[in-house]
Amino acid sequence: MAELFHSDILQDHHIVVTGGGTGLGKAMAERLASLGAKVTIGGRREEPLQETVEGIRSEGGVAGWETMNVREPDSVAAFFEAAEERNGPVTGLINNAAANFLAPSHTLSPGGFDAIVKTNLYGSFYCTQWCGQHWIGRETPGVVLSIVTTYADTGSAFVLPSAVSKAGIVAMTKSLAAEWGTYGIRLNAIAPGPFPTKGAWERLVPDPQMAEHMKKRVPLGRFGEPEELTNLVVFLMSGLASYLSGEVIALDGGEVLASGGQFNDFIKQDREGVLALFEMMRGAK
Ligand code: HXC
Repeated sequence: MAELFHSDILQDHHIVVTGGGTGLGKAMAERLASLGAKVTIGGRREEPLQETVEGIRSEGGVAGWETMNVREPDSVAAFFEAAEERNGPVTGLINNAAANFLAPSHTLSPGGFDAIVKTNLYGSFYCTQWCGQHWIGRETPGVVLSIVTTYADTGSAFVLPSAVSKAGIVAMTKSLAAEWGTYGIRLNAIAPGPFPTKGAWERLVPDPQMAEHMKKRVPLGRFGEPEELTNLVVFLMSGLASYLSGEVIALDGGEVLASGGQFNDFIKQDREGVLALFEMMRGAK
């Protein structure tokens, strides 16, 4: 697909992507760098970070990486300091690093609950607060985008730590959009529906039949493509969205809304048959 945005739309931006070495984080980092942003990616494992940065550099982009563990505030601070030393002041943050597993909630150990909530909620808070403190201190604007999930709003069985932590990130986004707007800081979130990536699919959707079933839940009849996510990411991180703050945008092909409406089951059935049924009902006295 031809590039939708001007090639320099993100010039003068330095954007951090947590969990940027793999999956959707990697796709975001690559797209942002291809549009002129300097990008720093962080994560626990050196190898994917290094590979992703090398890929970006080979395409002419400016990128750096540092290992970090978002669960640890000292590691987060060291990460941002190193990022700024290499590529100058950070202007944008994407809270993308996340952890999740499927488990019955009554069997969760305290350690299991902590592993997810500390990565998702505490990690996003530590990174966001570091940026906010520095942007406010320097009197410069900034943009935060958090990747949440559509079940942050509805809740979901078997992923309780993920659901509560993502709901917390939504509350953080809205709270800080109100509190930090006066400093020129915008915060938004994207709630992606199913976008297949190796990491998430191995953990959460290991069975092809399960994937097919998930696809049927989406009115558009397919999973999302990374580029469809990065289109929105670029828009939200850029000056095009300069008046947009405190919003959570679902990017799910209509999946969540379709699972709620009383008569939405009809969309999964043969459309001709459904229309014939409606005709028959029309005649009912
Ligand atoms: C129950 C589990 C478990 C499981 C781990 N634990 N896996 N409990 N069911 N499947 C428990 C452990 O017993 C331990 O508890 C605690 O969690 C920490 O586990 P560790 O392996 O020691 O920790 P760690 O190495 O930090 O691993 C964390 C992890 C891992 C979450 C388990 O999978 C991870 O780091 N994942 C990151 C990447 C990821 O998950 N990506 C998917 C996100 S996608 P005790 O009590 O023994 O200490 C996503 C999208 C959602 O969220 C939307 C999809 C459509």
